[in-house]
Amino acid sequence: MKTPDKEPALQAPILPCTLVVETLNAGGTVKKSTTYKQIKLILGRNEFRDLILRLDSPKHSLKFPLRDFVLHKRFLKEGKATISLKDVNLNLMIANAPPNQLLVFMKTLAGKHAVTGVNGGVINARKRLLSTVPKSFEEISPLTFNEYETVRKNGGKMPLKERAANVPDASPVSSKRKRDSKDASGSSTPKVPRFLNPLVLTSEQKRVLQVVQSGLNVFFTGSAGTGKSFLLKRIVGALPPDVTFVTASTGVAACQIGGTTLHAFAGIGSGKASIDQCIQLASRRVIAQQWKKCKHLIVDEVSMVDGDFFTKLEAVGRAVRGNDKPFGGIQLILCGDFLQLPPVTRPGEKRVFCFQTNAWDRCINLSMELTDVRRQDDQEFIDILQSIRLGRCKEEMVERLKQTEKNTVERDGIKATRLCTHREDVNHINQEHLKKLAGDNQVFQAVDSDPGLSSLLDSQTPVVAKLTLKVGAQVMLMKNLDVGQGLVNGARGVVTGFKMGKEGNPIVRFLCGVTTEIKHEKWTVKGSGGIYLHRRQLPLKLAWAFSIHKSQGMTLDCAEMSLSRVFEAGQAYVALSRARNLKSIRVLDFGPECVRAHPDVLKFYQGLRRARYEEQQTHDIEISTERKATTLVY
Ligand SMILES: Nc1ncnc2c1ncn2[C@@H]1O[C@H](COP(=O)(O)OP(=O)(O)O)[C@@H](O)[C@H]1O
Ligand SMILES: *[C@@H]1O[C@H](CO)[C@@H](O)[C@H](O)[C@H]1NC(C)=O
Ligand SMILES: [Mg+2]
Repeated sequence: MKTPDKEPALQAPILPCTLVVETLNAGGTVKKSTTYKQIKLILGRNEFRDLILRLDSPKHSLKFPLRDFVLHKRFLKEGKATISLKDVNLNLMIANAPPNQLLVFMKTLAGKHAVTGVNGGVINARKRLLSTVPKSFEEISPLTFNEYETVRKNGGKMPLKERAANVPDASPVSSKRKRDSKDASGSSTPKVPRFLNPLVLTSEQKRVLQVVQSGLNVFFTGSAGTGKSFLLKRIVGALPPDVTFVTASTGVAACQIGGTTLHAFAGIGSGKASIDQCIQLASRRVIAQQWKKCKHLIVDEVSMVDGDFFTKLEAVGRAVRGNDKPFGGIQLILCGDFLQLPPVTRPGEKRVFCFQTNAWDRCINLSMELTDVRRQDDQEFIDILQSIRLGRCKEEMVERLKQTEKNTVERDGIKATRLCTHREDVNHINQEHLKKLAGDNQVFQAVDSDPGLSSLLDSQTPVVAKLTLKVGAQVMLMKNLDVGQGLVNGARGVVTGFKMGKEGNPIVRFLCGVTTEIKHEKWTVKGSGGIYLHRRQLPLKLAWAFSIHKSQGMTLDCAEMSLSRVFEAGQAYVALSRARNLKSIRVLDFGPECVRAHPDVLKFYQGLRRARYEEQQTHDIEISTERKATTLVY
């Protein structure tokens, strides 16, 4: 059996944060406000089993009894929440808390309160006065499933939407998730209380998280679908939001982890200017503020970041922050797979990967590799993909892929998405198919918070400013709407009609079996200087065709591809690895010549493997064996 992915359940109810305590007068206006920075909040009980919130810091220790209170939790994802203590007229305002920890903390608080009941339940005032029990404070145990259920029944539940948003990318493979959670809880009739834990990391993912929390500059890699982005979201949740900047090399990839592009963060334009000019650009007030504030910089899909750009960023970091350490002392958390797509270069330009720069060598303390493939569940397919990733394709593998040409991946009028090697084909194919459909165009215009910045929103959100649909249009969902039902990023469907009325929202039938009205959703991106920009649009994109470049990082329901015009190392691998199994793809023309891995990258990975091998000789590292990618010898 798989080594159980045991998390410290809902971790100990201790929360690092800033706390503002507001004292209110009877009318509800603020009389006094005190700020406590860099403190810990601990949830516990006193000798009467009353719920107590304790503030701990080297200088202070305060206790707040939680009897009659209201929780305000609209901004959990930004690390903020407020607890209003009605009986003592206090507002406790929490800020700068790691969002995941805050979520768990608030759930625990609500849960424990619900099961205790108001007024601590049992012990009356007289008994309290006469009590001889010594004063005590005991940390509270994590929330159990039963307690969690009680909270839900009492109406003290977390909105479902919030939960979904906080379950990183919660796997579209819902059956897999179910299996995992059963694994974690052991048998089906648990004797010990089951702890609520929506986020289960594999042991190798956990190790990366620990290393990140130790403050090292980390690069972690692994083949497609090993949960790199999934883990990144967990990492984001474990870091204080105000000093953590979440980025990716492309807009689509950034959206998957709720961040912006690395370019938008850097503020040095395309980065083609000289280092001095770049430093000047980044010294503009709002941009420099951002650079100075940043303590942790996260970059997903780092393989597509140009090496020269990386070198410039590192120099800019030092200059703008006035700190000689690499990157000006910012902790780097980089992730990606260099055997997927390389940086985009113009014809004639020399390609430099990030890992080939001096900056990289100076910054990165530790490189780690995830090996447990999570996207695919079909071992034959995993083996083929692993081989193709390394630029090899045996004859029988070519044959197996060619067989998929006969697959029928269409179902219920939902056609396979054609993955294109060339971007310009995508728009063309989509428009041609749309034109051929009978019926009227329905146009959905995005509403942007700042129409002057629409082109920025075009590049930073996965949805277009103007979406044209018709009945019969093939569409792809661009947001996780309901993970449990399979309405996730990349889910495929077809428009079956439009609602009557002013908005005329489309009705979409999805491959997962759900037919539903699709409503506007909101995307928020952090513009330069920390201002927030919004776009409201339907979370849909035309899906007869999609570019391989843009698909990197996604999981796709059904796809077909013609790989004869592959022009990049890693391109065929990226296209194929979007699918979950061999049944959901159709490979139209394929030969061993489509498969290419960049020799420099292979050498880099050999080095990583060697380093890991040597490490294994000294430490005895446990490796999980189930569903593990075949380890290939280079
Ligand atoms: N520990 C995990 N438990 C359950 N599902 C996971 C886990 N890690 C990853 N996944 C799922 O595997 C799929 C691939 O993960 P993703 O982060 O997109 O991989 P990568 O970024 O490495 O290509 C996603 O659907 C994700 O939800
Ligand atoms: C990690 O790298 C940074 C940047 O080069 C360096 O300052 C730091 O000392 C390194 N830490 C360790 C533990 O090696
Ligand atoms: Mg990813």
